[in-house]
Amino acid sequence: MELTHLRPHAAPRTAAVWAVLRGELDRQAGRTLQVVDVGGGTGGFAVPLAEAGHRVTVVDASPDALAALTRRAAEAGVPDRITAVQGDGDRLAGLVEPGSADLVLCHSLLEVVDDPAEVVGALAATLRPGGAA
Ligand SMILES: C[S@@+](CC[C@H](N)C(=O)[O-])C[C@H]1O[C@@H](n2cnc3c(N)ncnc32)[C@H](O)[C@@H]1O
Repeated sequence: MELTHLRPHAAPRTAAVWAVLRGELDRQAGRTLQVVDVGGGTGGFAVPLAEAGHRVTVVDASPDALAALTRRAAEAGVPDRITAVQGDGDRLAGLVEPGSADLVLCHSLLEVVDDPAEVVGALAATLRPGGAA
């Protein structure tokens, strides 16, 4: 999928996220990225990123959201590029290999976790050197 066509009709807030994301995808162009989407829900970001060829691990507290994500990934033909992990963003270090991600997403989650600073620290620890959150 051409990255410039990702989410052309998204809502303004989501479009702003995609604008930042596209810049980061361009910066790391030519590589299959390891993406971690914390609080990724039903895959609004994960599925298009997987369709673009990247590998995405979605960590989410909700089994229902992850079930919907798994269905969407299958319908989009990218079930092998998405890994659904049920768990708490506060416990990220035990769920995702530290230093493994090229790109970490965390949209609309920090406002609902118990300790946002702890989660931000865990996001940073998940990134490989040169990766981006
Ligand atoms: C508002 S939705 C955002 C979904 C997606 N990131 C987006 O921007 O479209 C928040 C998501 O965070 C998940 N969530 C809430 N608390 C969480 C926690 N402590 N750890 C991980 N996920 C959590 C919810 O299950 C939900 O899927």
